[in-house]
Amino acid sequence: MSTAISPTAYNYKVVRQFAIMTVVWGILGMGLGVFIASQLVWPELNFGLPWTSFGRLRPLHTNLVIFAFGGCALFATSYYVVQRTCQTRLISDSLAAFTFWGWQAVIVGAIVTLPLGYTTTKEYAELEWPLAILLAIVWVTYGLVFFGTITKRKTKHIYVGNWFYGAFIVVTAMLHIVNHMSLPVSLFKSYSAYSGATDAMIQWWYGHNAVGFFLTTGFLGMMYYFVPKQAERPIYSYRLSIVHFWALITLYIWAGPHHLHYTALPDWAQSLGMAMSIILLAPSWGGMINGMMTLSGAWHKLRTDPILRFLVVSLAFYGMSTFEGPMMAIKTVNSLSHYTDWTIGHVHAGALGWVAMISIGAIYHMIPKLFGRAQMHSTALINTHFWLATIGTVLYIASMWVNGITQGLMWRAINDDGTLTYSFVEALQASHPGFIVRALGGAFFATGMLFMAYNVLRTVRASNPAEAEAAAKIAVVGAH
Ligand code: HEM
Ligand code: HEM
Repeated sequence: MSTAISPTAYNYKVVRQFAIMTVVWGILGMGLGVFIASQLVWPELNFGLPWTSFGRLRPLHTNLVIFAFGGCALFATSYYVVQRTCQTRLISDSLAAFTFWGWQAVIVGAIVTLPLGYTTTKEYAELEWPLAILLAIVWVTYGLVFFGTITKRKTKHIYVGNWFYGAFIVVTAMLHIVNHMSLPVSLFKSYSAYSGATDAMIQWWYGHNAVGFFLTTGFLGMMYYFVPKQAERPIYSYRLSIVHFWALITLYIWAGPHHLHYTALPDWAQSLGMAMSIILLAPSWGGMINGMMTLSGAWHKLRTDPILRFLVVSLAFYGMSTFEGPMMAIKTVNSLSHYTDWTIGHVHAGALGWVAMISIGAIYHMIPKLFGRAQMHSTALINTHFWLATIGTVLYIASMWVNGITQGLMWRAINDDGTLTYSFVEALQASHPGFIVRALGGAFFATGMLFMAYNVLRTVRASNPAEAEAAAKIAVVGAH
């Protein structure tokens, strides 16, 4: 056996495609978020049409930001990370291309069907069966490409980031397929295979783990690669990363019932969900600390590097939302927070602060490398984007805390004779200022995305195809 240098190239084409679409879908999904937030301030914006009503556009917002924006960021980064850490090209270019076009087709399908009112009515699983089947096929192909690439790796170890991406891929497939079991009765209508409390439990087992594995585990994979890379420091503790991985994936799966407190779900299941959610604080914070401590000795870089700032602030929001979540899972706290804007604030602390910020940081890190440039077109613009995103997130979360607690307290206030102190409309009126601030915060965040698009465009246009291809060339030290 001899060691030789064999030139080869990574498949950066599919990474570039997914990275660009992350920005495109981010703008559309968040733009739509600002629009529905404005509908809550000015209901006239529903235009009296079914297709543009809040009820139909809200699920389109969630599908666009989670699956289109978040999904493309996860595809882009996982394909990038798995190739670089395994020092090998993706196992199949055509299967990878299929995942790109298939995923875009699912998203376009969502954009068409959701405003038309075709929906399973299950939150985050609204897509009707033909699209759900396409999604399952694309996802299984994704698994083949990802794990196939790992099997032909040139490195001995499987880098921890890939463990997180791998768990995210496997569990998402399991959740999607089990929750979508249904009987189609026409091309666009199906009925769930489950009923009653079982249906609710399966749905929230899916819903919570969509948060746990799609919006958390996949992005932790991103964290384990991009934070050390951008900080130019090794990960703080490999041992902690392994403990983090196993603890997170064993605990998350049990926490779903915290979405169904005080419902027909058996009491023991609710208590189990609550207990598991509280325990979940430990691995979540273990992971956050591992990411933060990676900056030991590199904190000064935060002064000059806005990409690193995106990554570190995302970890701070991750820590915040994973402290808030276990607290909200306590039944007595949930009796106040449930159905209120507090939940919406918690969601966006995770969604904007954690998911969007870490994705944005990772995309800024990757774009110059993918297009053979030394750096992004403008660091000042990244900095502007960072402040717009941070201020936007804080405005969003703070206004929803105030609204949520106000709503919770007003709904439960009773007079001496047992009647309600406030009508629902009074609580709605009290929420109006918060709705305005939230729409403003969202507009800040979405404007930042426009700066990003311009910066990405200028970086891409400054590159030529030869430079971009050269960026993908690597010299792999292979054993022959
Ligand atoms: C230890 C971690 C976490 C725990 C224990 C937790 C717990 C909770 C609880 C108790 C609720 C309220 C359920 C209700 O009253 O209906 C909730 C809602 C939610 N959380 Fe978390 N959370 C955690 C982290 C996160 C993160 C990091 C994100 C986002 C990236 C997130 C996204 C969501 C979403 C989207 C909902 C709303 C679900 C819905 O009703 O549609 N959570 N979470
Ligand atoms: C400019 C940024 C954004 C704005 C203005 C925005 C606005 C909104 C609004 C108004 C709602 C409906 C709230 C309600 O029903 O009372 C919502 C729901 C939601 N958004 Fe966003 N959003 C933004 C970004 C994001 C991102 C980036 C994600 C995920 C990565 C996300 C995930 C969600 C989820 C999961 C829900 C449903 C929450 C629940 O049912 O509890 N949003 N958003």
